[in-house]
Amino acid sequence: MSPFHLLFVLPWLCIAVLASDPLPSCERNCSGIEIPYPFGLEPACALSGFNLTCNTTEGKLYSGNVELLNISLLEGWVRMRMDISSYCYNDTLQLDEHDWSLDLRDTPYRLSNVGNMFTVIGCRTLAYVDNLDTAGNLTTTGCVATCWQGNYSSLNDGDCFGIGCCQMNIPKGLHHRSNFTFSKNYSTSSAFNDYYGGQAPLRVDWAIGNETCEVARDKANYSCMSTHSDCFNSLNGPGYICNCSKGFYGNPYLKSDDSDSCQVFLEGENCRVKLNN
Ligand SMILES: *[C@@H]1O[C@H](CO)[C@@H](O)[C@H](O)[C@H]1NC(C)=O
Ligand SMILES: *[C@@H]1O[C@H](CO)[C@@H](O)[C@H](O)[C@H]1NC(C)=O
Ligand SMILES: *[C@@H]1O[C@H](CO)[C@@H](O)[C@H](O)[C@H]1NC(C)=O
Ligand SMILES: *[C@@H]1O[C@H](CO)[C@@H](O)[C@H](O)[C@H]1NC(C)=O
Ligand SMILES: *[C@@H]1O[C@H](CO)[C@@H](O)[C@H](O)[C@H]1NC(C)=O
Ligand SMILES: *[C@@H]1O[C@H](CO)[C@@H](O)[C@H](O)[C@H]1NC(C)=O
Ligand SMILES: *[C@@H]1O[C@H](CO)[C@@H](O)[C@H](O)[C@H]1NC(C)=O
Ligand SMILES: *[C@@H]1O[C@H](CO)[C@@H](O)[C@H](O)[C@H]1NC(C)=O
Ligand SMILES: *[C@@H]1O[C@H](CO)[C@@H](O)[C@H](O)[C@H]1NC(C)=O
Ligand SMILES: *[C@@H]1O[C@H](CO)[C@@H](O)[C@H](O)[C@H]1NC(C)=O
Ligand SMILES: *[C@@H]1O[C@H](CO)[C@@H](O)[C@H](O)[C@H]1NC(C)=O
Ligand SMILES: *[C@@H]1O[C@H](CO)[C@@H](O)[C@H](O)[C@H]1NC(C)=O
Repeated sequence: MSPFHLLFVLPWLCIAVLASDPLPSCERNCSGIEIPYPFGLEPACALSGFNLTCNTTEGKLYSGNVELLNISLLEGWVRMRMDISSYCYNDTLQLDEHDWSLDLRDTPYRLSNVGNMFTVIGCRTLAYVDNLDTAGNLTTTGCVATCWQGNYSSLNDGDCFGIGCCQMNIPKGLHHRSNFTFSKNYSTSSAFNDYYGGQAPLRVDWAIGNETCEVARDKANYSCMSTHSDCFNSLNGPGYICNCSKGFYGNPYLKSDDSDSCQVFLEGENCRVKLNN
């Protein structure tokens, strides 16, 4: 329960909590999506780079012009809505082109190589991913989907090994974790695009800054603010994320005197009790 909400219900009990809240008046709800610090709806309510916008008319949350569907505070990822890029002949045999791209440079976000697969569908389709690393080196990887000389009976439902469909890990990928199931209709029609409404969710990891925990810990801007928090180097690129120490629950990015910061659940009691260090 946020202090904001508490204020509404029990104003007389909350003065002390509010007085110590560094971000007292920040809206943390966009159409039911909770926006925990370091994210925020105004630069003053967010850590640098983590400011989002809420379009209350649409009821949608955005980072720049990309819609955000979910925020995971403790695992360090968000899900973004991604348009499916397509390049298809339509009924009048003209190429209908739809390009979508996402530039994550100079943001805290980086494409998750464990949460996504790069999937190409079609009969004469080449698609590729450019990856510009922090050293400025560009690597290009991609895959090709073909059909056997227009013989669509070589397509098999469920097979995504190059005939009508190919898949690969996002560059430097480690794990396959995709529940995509190929249907042969996808190669020869807009069935896939239609089924997903032209969009698919994309998992994107985020991290604080570009330093390791060891280096960041001694800096004034170290972000694991709670006394009862630990720092973890990002598993996907530079930077770190924070978590509450074992036995503590809450938001590790908030100072311990904030009621939403890491705190202990006392056994046998049905309420949260805050420890003073
Ligand atoms: C967040 O806002 C939605 C509607 O926009 C509302 O239904 C929900 O109760 C709010 N949640 C909190 C925790 O305030
Ligand atoms: C919110 O979304 C509506 C509908 O798409 C749009 O007309 C409006 O400009 C958006 N508002 C902002 C502040 O972006
Ligand atoms: C965050 O706020 C800054 C300053 O207002 C702005 O330039 C930037 O575009 C915002 N970022 C996002 C993702 O909204
Ligand atoms: C993520 O967002 C989607 C769509 O808004 C919602 O259906 C789903 O329950 C959310 N998942 C989590 C883990 O919050
Ligand atoms: C942080 O802790 C929560 C539960 O305490 C856990 O679910 C989550 O995976 C942890 N995150 C990391 C990055 O270890
Ligand atoms: C086919 O694509 C062309 C080029 O994008 C477009 O001008 C035309 O309207 C499309 N036709 C149909 C039937 O969608
Ligand atoms: C990046 O490119 C430079 C120059 O070609 C090379 O010396 C360096 O080893 C490359 N770095 C990586 C991480 O591949
Ligand atoms: C089309 O492919 C199927 C299965 O691979 C094969 O049995 C059939 O002979 C092929 N037909 C032609 C016209 O090449
Ligand atoms: C596949 O993933 C989508 C999106 O995360 C989910 O809605 C769907 O239930 C999953 N299907 C299976 C079989 O796991
Ligand atoms: C493929 O498309 C045909 C005709 O549109 C449809 O009858 C069939 O159910 C589709 N098959 C799959 C696996 O989607
Ligand atoms: C913290 O400050 C150092 C300089 O002392 C800077 O290099 C680093 O990028 C900053 N980290 C964040 C997350 O702003
Ligand atoms: C780390 O981040 C700081 C501030 O955002 C930037 O000035 C610096 O160049 C970055 N260092 C590297 C190695 O990317």
